[in-house]
Amino acid sequence: MLKEPTSAYRRIEVQPQESGFGAEITGLDLSRPLPAETLSEVKAAWAAHAVVAFPDQPLSLDALEAFTLQIGPFGEDPFIKPMPGRPNVLELRREPDETATNFGAGWHSDWSFQAAPPAATILRSEVVPPVGGDTLFCDATRAWEALSPAMQRLLMPLRAVHSASRPYGTRGVFARETEKRTLQIISSPEAEKTQVHPLVRTHPVTGRKALWVSPVYTVGVEGLTDEEAAAILGFCFKHLTQERFIYRHKWRPGMVLMWDNRCTMHFAEGGYDGHLRVMHRTTVAGDTPV
Ligand code: SIN
Repeated sequence: MLKEPTSAYRRIEVQPQESGFGAEITGLDLSRPLPAETLSEVKAAWAAHAVVAFPDQPLSLDALEAFTLQIGPFGEDPFIKPMPGRPNVLELRREPDETATNFGAGWHSDWSFQAAPPAATILRSEVVPPVGGDTLFCDATRAWEALSPAMQRLLMPLRAVHSASRPYGTRGVFARETEKRTLQIISSPEAEKTQVHPLVRTHPVTGRKALWVSPVYTVGVEGLTDEEAAAILGFCFKHLTQERFIYRHKWRPGMVLMWDNRCTMHFAEGGYDGHLRVMHRTTVAGDTPV
């Protein structure tokens, strides 16, 4: 890990990951309300690094909810049954005997099919398997910036069509699966709805542009034939998921991770069959992509 210049933050320690994006934040206690200056440094570090990990923060669910609300109001989490009595917390639990594909095993930005998708997702590890279970992130900002000016001009005016139909539709992946799954997924005709967003999104805080499409939720490009859209999107997906844009997050128990859905995609890697994995997840509301 690299050390960020100490002058950048007065209240927290920020250690950027060597992958070029993502950082670890220490020197604070997330189980209590953060003082205003600490909170604003956390938000600044999050804007700068997109994926921030807080090790050794074994938060109770109450504390996880309270921390989330310091970042912003809860987002809306469709198609998954929340925890009893906690409408804004999802328990991502996979039992040792589960054989269904692990949840989140496809590149996506959370709920990008919504009109105003969540700005942040916050995930806290409860039980971490001894092998596998990493979460991979791709930096959609650097991916955009690495494109040639000619390719940027081609992509810039395009509008992408997002939908939840592939995973959550009545004929979607989850509706068709037969294996046991602990996470309760509610497939619905609602998932067939589509939502158009700019294919290149400008971050409301940093002003930087990001290539904002994903193989799970982006199903087309406005005005293009299916074949044309598949060629453009196929190029974007391959470009985004190159090793040089990836940060691999390795979990330890009691870790909190907060990522920015406005400029990243993520992928939950499996590889822990036979072991329990338990995570708790909240989202923070975002705004209409521009
Ligand atoms: C997700 O939110 O997509 C799941 C991430 C994970 O379980 O690592």
